[in-house]
Amino acid sequence: MRRTMTVILALSVWATGAAAQAAATEPDGAALYRQHCRSCHGAKGTPPARMVTVYPALTAFGDLAADSIVAVLRHGKGKDMKAFADRLSPAEMQAVAAYIKTFGASAPPGS
Ligand code: HEC
Repeated sequence: MRRTMTVILALSVWATGAAAQAAATEPDGAALYRQHCRSCHGAKGTPPARMVTVYPALTAFGDLAADSIVAVLRHGKGKDMKAFADRLSPAEMQAVAAYIKTFGASAPPGS
């Protein structure tokens, strides 16, 4: 009986460790967004008015699909949205896109 308990305990410690490790290797979409995107796109996906002055093409993300966001990150858009293919891994692009989706439909720019 005692032996069974020890095995169960050892297994649960191992499983907890494995879960923590998986979480640690998952890219942090929120942190990546703050680092790479917030300056132009705003903390919640609505660009600050002064950025819209600099980049008139900037709009709120609206209801873009995650795949469309990843496509923009791969290839860029227009002349001011640069591709992030050399700065973000595919998993990081997915994580940033998923984070942007948490904003929901944003308010129009400048509001
Ligand atoms: C230097 C400022 C700048 C930075 C930094 C920037 N963007 Fe952009 N982004 C723009 C501009 C300007 C546009 C509008 C491009 C156009 O339509 O001509 C844009 C457009 C987009 C679009 C398309 C929006 C639409 O409605 O089609 C997505 C998605 C996007 N950016 C995501 C990101 C993400 C994610 C990051 C960070 C990894 C990022 N951007 C960083 C300036 C920036």
